[in-house]
Amino acid sequence: MTEILNGRVLANNIREKAATRIHKLPHPPGLAVILVGDDPASHLYVGLKENAAKEVGIYIEKYEFAADTKDDVLISKIDELNARHDIHGILVQLPLPGQSVDKIIGAIDFKKDVDGFHVENRKLLLENKANLVPPIALAVMRMLQASHTPLQNKHAVIIGNSTIFAEPIIELMKEAGVEAQFLARNSTSLAAKSRAADIIVVAVGEAGFLQRDMVKAGAVVIDVGTNKKNGVVVGDAAPELVGHAGFMSKVPGGVGPLTVAYLLFNVIKAMELQERK
Ligand code: GUN
Repeated sequence: MTEILNGRVLANNIREKAATRIHKLPHPPGLAVILVGDDPASHLYVGLKENAAKEVGIYIEKYEFAADTKDDVLISKIDELNARHDIHGILVQLPLPGQSVDKIIGAIDFKKDVDGFHVENRKLLLENKANLVPPIALAVMRMLQASHTPLQNKHAVIIGNSTIFAEPIIELMKEAGVEAQFLARNSTSLAAKSRAADIIVVAVGEAGFLQRDMVKAGAVVIDVGTNKKNGVVVGDAAPELVGHAGFMSKVPGGVGPLTVAYLLFNVIKAMELQERK
């Protein structure tokens, strides 16, 4: 039996709490979203973030750029947003189609980095002093918690394309007593390493990437993938895992809505951080 973990109800609770907090603030928090290129999944995510932000009373501005936009052009937009007092959060949707992620994310004022990807925020997280923790990492941990599996001394792998997403997840897992390791999608002996894990987080962006032979029977699978296959949104975990894994997060309706919900909270936190006397 595989228990399917649903993130939507949990996300709705968080969104309601965010809305209540925002209604008590003297003015609305502001979020700017930068979207580069025409990747359909990125447009879909940004649309979801935009709607969720508006619904809870966050003021939002969206800036779209062509895929071949130079780093400098994006950095000047970020500089302009850094200087504004009505914009408290800046989010650059990833992946970028060719620009330097480090340079672009590094240009954001770290107090406005609501994704928690800025070097300064990553450092603060490692030092246990984080203010802005990546929403995606909080979402993965919330899904894991929803499985009610004891985490102490468990072994986890995070399979992905980049450490920018994996590193904060590893850190939060460590804090929860889980020994976690990043595996690049092309790692040697990937299947054997992944099969040894009690918890697998998969974020490679390929439908059906995580096959049955990569998963120990009864393992917890947290699926961060959002892919379109034959017009249907599916995750990175193969459907054959149902009946084999112990727990699987839903796609759509798992990590995605929780990530959006935690982002809203980070916008509130960012505003508080900037307006702290
Ligand atoms: N692309 C996929 N997930 C995320 C996320 O959490 N933040 C950003 N900025 N881009 C993403």
